[in-house]
Formats: sequence, structure tokens, C-alpha cells
Amino acid sequence: MRTIGPRTALCAVLLHPAGHTRSPAMHNAAFEALGIDAVYVAFDVAPSGLADAVRGARALGLRQLAVSIPHKEAALALCDEVDATARRIGAVNTLTLDGGRWIGSNTDWLGAVRALERTTALAGRDAVVLGAGGAARAAVFGLLERGARVRVLNRTPARARELAAELGAGGAGPLEAIGDAPFDVLVNTTSVGLREDVSPIPPGAIPKDAVVLDAVYDPPRTRLLRDAAARGARIVEGKWWLVHQAAEQLRLWTTRDAPLDAMAAAFDRAGT
Ligand code: ATR
Repeated sequence: MRTIGPRTALCAVLLHPAGHTRSPAMHNAAFEALGIDAVYVAFDVAPSGLADAVRGARALGLRQLAVSIPHKEAALALCDEVDATARRIGAVNTLTLDGGRWIGSNTDWLGAVRALERTTALAGRDAVVLGAGGAARAAVFGLLERGARVRVLNRTPARARELAAELGAGGAGPLEAIGDAPFDVLVNTTSVGLREDVSPIPPGAIPKDAVVLDAVYDPPRTRLLRDAAARGARIVEGKWWLVHQAAEQLRLWTTRDAPLDAMAAAFDRAGT
């Protein structure tokens, strides 16, 4: 157990409802592994209290705030400065204190990209992103940034078209359009698979040489990932998206490289 003293730095994740978050576990494991005198805690903050919480955190000298559901868009307006990437994605998931100012960033896109890059290069690949919410925006931005071609498919195709047009993805349509063109990389950002053992697409739609990442991390092996593995495709569990986005948060604050294995192990322990 680390000693908490007057110089111990405090960081926090803000989310609502209080639900389970594995962010403190990952960050505290990283602090421990790197010998950083800091603790990461979680605060349940309702949307009506977000502005007060962000102001209060500055007054208290917190060093970094991770903002999670449902605050990622509202937090953008509460930063003193927002980096160009977060502005383009339209959401911040990280506020880092710098000279008394909150600098807003988005590490979700890098989390998705680095999770995929554990298994495949992305330049020149044909990617499909399922969903059109905040996680989809981050994934689409990241894939385009790495030079992939991207189609966005969503239950509500109008949202997919809007997202694709805004971020410059090449195509958009309904989920049923999955079979219309071949692809190498598939990222699911819909919540399908979270509560029920179902997949957003039929197994036969997954090419055997594809790489498939699911943003759903609980269960670790969603129906989509099991279907993909059964087809012979390579799979990346949602855990890695979260671990890599947290690793980038740590780097933003401390400039240190994150101990990925320690963070992944803490992620697993926090889920049991
Ligand atoms: P986030 O910001 O985490 O990405 P979100 O904005 O709530 O979350 O987006 C959830 C995504 O899951 C949406 O793309 C949603 O599709 P719609 O735009 O049609 O609502 C998708 N989704 C949720 N439930 C779904 C279901 N049962 N079948 C297919 N897609 C679903």
C-alpha cells in the first residue's frame, strides 16, 4: 500500500451514473509501477454538476481529470484550451492541468488505433466502423489519421452519413450493408453485445483474414469476437482500447511511457 502524504498528487475520473469504472485501477497500477506519488479516484458527477466539479478540481489542484460517459462533449466547453484533434472529434476525455489551465484532449482515438496496431498496420486498409456515437467518431478519426479507408455503418444510417461527411470517411450506410464491399479491419462501437450474447452483424459477413476490435469489453469475448475467431479472423479485445487510451492520458500528464502490462493486469483484476 502506498503512503498518501501532503505531496501526493490527485487525479480523478468523472462519470455518471456511478457505475463501474476500471480507470482508477489502471492508473493506480501505473503510478505504482512507475513510482509516481499520485492517486486516481472516481467521482460520480451528474451533468448539472460538471462545471462546478471541473472548477473545483482546479481549485483543489487535481492534476488530471478523465471524463467519461456522459460528459465527453460538455467537457469541451469547460477547458481553457482544447487541442485541434479533440476539437475535430468533438469530444474531450482528458483534462490535464498545465500552468493552472485545463488543457482538453481526446485519447480515445489513439486508444482504438493502438489497440488495432497491436495486430495490424492500418495505412491503406479498408476499414468498417459500426456505430455513429462518440466512440465511432474517435475510431473513424483515428483510422483516417492512419491512412485507412473507412466506411461507417449504423442502425440509423442518417447518423452514419452525417459522421462520415463531417470527418471525411468514404462511405456510410445501414448495418445491413456490411456485405456490400470487402474489408480488412472491423471496429464495433455499438453497444450490441454488452448485455446480450448477440452480434451487430451475421458471422458470415466477417472475412477470415480481417482484424476485429470490439469496444465492448465486458464480456471480454463478445459474440462478435467469438464469431470472428471462429471464422479465422484475428481479434482484439475492447480492453486494449481502454488500456491504450489510459496509457496516453498518463503520458500527457507525466510524459512517461505507460507500463501497459501492469495496466492491463489491473484492468482484468478490476473486472472480477
Ligand atoms: P457512444 O458515445 O458510446 O458511442 P452512443 O452515442 O449512445 O454511444 O452510440 C451508441 C451506438 O450504438 C449508436 O451507433 C447506436 O445506433 P443508433 O445511432 O441507431 O442509435 C448503436 N446501437 C445501440 N443499440 C443498438 C442496437 N440494438 N442495434 C444496433 N445498434 C445499436
